[in-house]
Amino acid sequence: MDNLLVSCTEQLAEIDGQVEGTIPEWLSVQMLRVGPAKWDLDDFVLNHWLDGCAMLCKFTISQGRVKMNSKYLHSEAYNKMNQVKRPVFTEFGTRSYPDPCKNVFSRFFSQIVPSDLTDNGCVGIFKLANEYYSSSETCNVLKVCNHSLNVQQKINLDKVAGVNLACSHVQSIKGDDYAYNMSSSFLTGLKYHVLKIPLFKDTEHEGNNSSFMNRASILGSIPSSWKTCIAYYHSFAITANYLVFIELPLVVNAFKLATCTAKGKPLKDCLEWHPSENTRFHVICKRSGQSVGKYYAKAFFYFHTINAYEDNGHIVADLMAYEDPTILEKWDLSAMRSNVYDDQNQATPTRFVMPLHVQHIPLSRFFFHYQGYLQDSQVRLEPDLIRSVGILVHDLFSGPFRLEIDYIGFVYDSQHNDIIEYETHYHEASSLKSYGSV
Ligand SMILES: [Fe+2]
Repeated sequence: MDNLLVSCTEQLAEIDGQVEGTIPEWLSVQMLRVGPAKWDLDDFVLNHWLDGCAMLCKFTISQGRVKMNSKYLHSEAYNKMNQVKRPVFTEFGTRSYPDPCKNVFSRFFSQIVPSDLTDNGCVGIFKLANEYYSSSETCNVLKVCNHSLNVQQKINLDKVAGVNLACSHVQSIKGDDYAYNMSSSFLTGLKYHVLKIPLFKDTEHEGNNSSFMNRASILGSIPSSWKTCIAYYHSFAITANYLVFIELPLVVNAFKLATCTAKGKPLKDCLEWHPSENTRFHVICKRSGQSVGKYYAKAFFYFHTINAYEDNGHIVADLMAYEDPTILEKWDLSAMRSNVYDDQNQATPTRFVMPLHVQHIPLSRFFFHYQGYLQDSQVRLEPDLIRSVGILVHDLFSGPFRLEIDYIGFVYDSQHNDIIEYETHYHEASSLKSYGSV
């Protein structure tokens, strides 16, 4: 592990890699990767593996050969870090230090403005059509040139779409006209937002120079299940028609996040783990951006989804689940450099299956009756007193009938009101005529 944690020097000119075995002559591909690669700043050492300066590595495979070159991502955070020899932006495990280029007023202002979060895009790189972006999980995304590895443009999603944090794994389905990302806001309400990013140019209005990420917009929003926090997330699942946003019980305390820079705290100090809380799966329609289902599982932590797809009326989502988020603490740099690494609690491939067709039956509107007539005296049907539930289903055709019920359980629906189709619907086939107000 020692060599993995040594601060690297750039390899600007392409070098040939040593090939073991044979690469097919027909294989011609380019791959960009990004990751933390420099933690030592003269006399100062960053605390956490994820704090390292982002380095871009390019691998070009062609004619049976592999060429490689690398360059540090020249973000504002990187440039300042090299100048000040300290992080000027708050990083995951290291607090920020004053930027000597700013006066005391702008320093204070930058401590409470989410746009001034780090742009050290070491967390992920993604491709939108022919454009490449490096991401830091904040609102700052850097567009990079896949030839020179230079930064071409800094895109601030706070200004583009009003979001403060954004997932580093933007996703799209092959053939789709849009890519999607999950993002969140903490200054304008604790919400998660679905970002929709067109993968085609609006050359008539914007010319050829506009970037895809500059045209991101909010498709829909989900309020946080937490009063003062938003969940941490590193990726989400996507299928042909849905997104699955997984709201973990590892949450970012919004107050701590807004004040961590002023208090000299790193971002990891803003995280809270609640193992007794559920994990919530929000199924979101890609067309409307609206949540169409919510499912629960016990607490777990994950970084990456493996795959997701729709199958026979269900969404199947596979991901690499940890029992808890202690992996984040294991990446403490000094511990790793001392070869202290607890390999317990490894991620396990885990499958979650969510039925798409869920029927909600409003028990609160059930009435006691006798031989088709309502009883004069009605009492509230208490769910706790229900011992069994029978369901009568029929269609208008004689012959075989098949019904599958995966799960029956109680759901509290705060949106439930009396004016629903169920209340006013009357059907000839029904013998309980006294129910309808036709
Ligand atoms: Fe990732």
